Amino acid sequence: MPTFNLKINNEKHTVEADADTPLLWVLRDQIDLVGTKFGCGIGQCGACTVHVDGNAMRSCLLLVSQAEGLNITTIEGLSEQGDHPVQQAWKEIDVPQCGYCQSGQIMTASAFLSKNPNPNESEIRNAMHGNICRCASYNSIEEAIKVASK
Ligand code: FES
Repeated sequence: MPTFNLKINNEKHTVEADADTPLLWVLRDQIDLVGTKFGCGIGQCGACTVHVDGNAMRSCLLLVSQAEGLNITTIEGLSEQGDHPVQQAWKEIDVPQCGYCQSGQIMTASAFLSKNPNPNESEIRNAMHGNICRCASYNSIEEAIKVASK
């Protein structure tokens, strides 16, 4: 089986996998970074969102063979102590309900705010519209992003 050299949360990992294995499964099953969630597997829900070179990307759509040479950040690597401003805002607003989609939501929101630190409501909705929450915590998510942007 081929091997791939990955840089994840500033650490190097060498993994063996079929070239067409989605990064999501390498993260979860081989590197034990289970904060990245499987929702749909077809790029529709956003639960598997990670940062790739600072951009939000769905790890179910990125093949391990495409991930070499890229800087990948998962929810575990977003901050040292879970204290990224978006994570702090999430706690302040008490966003999670079932919690399943939240790591993907936070990864999308943090990448968005790094590029647009002071967004208006429609920009927030546009940025987050691809991240599905089955508990429909969208108002809380929007509020937390506003708090994080202050
Ligand atoms: Fe990747 Fe749904 S699991 S977008």
